[in-house]
Amino acid sequence: MSRIIIFSGAGISAESGIDTFRDSGGIWEKHKIEDVCTMSTWIKNYDMVHDFYDKRRIDLKNYNPNFAHTAVEELSKKYDVINITTNVDDLLERGGSSPLHIHGDIRKIRCMCCNKETDIGYRSKDQAVQENLIKHEDSCTDQSILKPAVIFFGEEAPEYEALWNIIRSLTKEDVVIVVGASLQVVPIDYYIAAYDCLKININPNLEVGTPYDEWIDIKDSASSGFKTILETLEEMIKNHV
Ligand code: APR
Repeated sequence: MSRIIIFSGAGISAESGIDTFRDSGGIWEKHKIEDVCTMSTWIKNYDMVHDFYDKRRIDLKNYNPNFAHTAVEELSKKYDVINITTNVDDLLERGGSSPLHIHGDIRKIRCMCCNKETDIGYRSKDQAVQENLIKHEDSCTDQSILKPAVIFFGEEAPEYEALWNIIRSLTKEDVVIVVGASLQVVPIDYYIAAYDCLKININPNLEVGTPYDEWIDIKDSASSGFKTILETLEEMIKNHV
């Protein structure tokens, strides 16, 4: 049976109303990366950084999963699905699946002394502190610096190890579905170019791939693209293997 490796970016949550990063009007048009998402500057901008993530975390409860998020769970009923996302929202979880968040999870806060992470749900950092929810290791000696558990530019991303192990294990029987990702930060299309798995991209504005391999480009929204996948994946697999 084929494994389905789904790699999702901000575009999978666009139809739920959550801004993407690089589309016009996106998050990086409204906020400078160096102000709110960079390891070398975030301490200097401590309050601005927490304000930026608090607003997005509190607001997250007002958005709902769309058909694409639930389609990931639907596919896992029939296939061995490996679900990887660079998104920090929880819409895949609320759509029924449990993704590997390789850029972290906006619901979590990390103590920068003991590295323990706490899921504070849709609260602000200060509300979680007031409610005494932040957990620390017994050895923790300085509980003053808390960081959103989102991977900043210039920060090590420990889950990339798991991503590379999955890539190294790809075979011709596997299917990689990239959905709603610009691949500007994690160029999956180049990472898997040497593997002859079936490669499918769902994106209304971007074709991916390299000169060395071929992709099935579904130039559509995440929801419509997954409707196509649910209807035709068996056919695509049969034509590929
Ligand atoms: N359905 C599918 N794809 C869509 C939709 C939609 N409805 N709307 C937009 N897209 C596509 C865009 O064409 C674009 O290619 O989603 C992609 C979003 O790209 P980005 O905004 O760059 O988001 P993403 O690829 O997730 O960014 C990756 O960059 O800033 C870092 O850590 C941040 O995880 C983020 C990473």
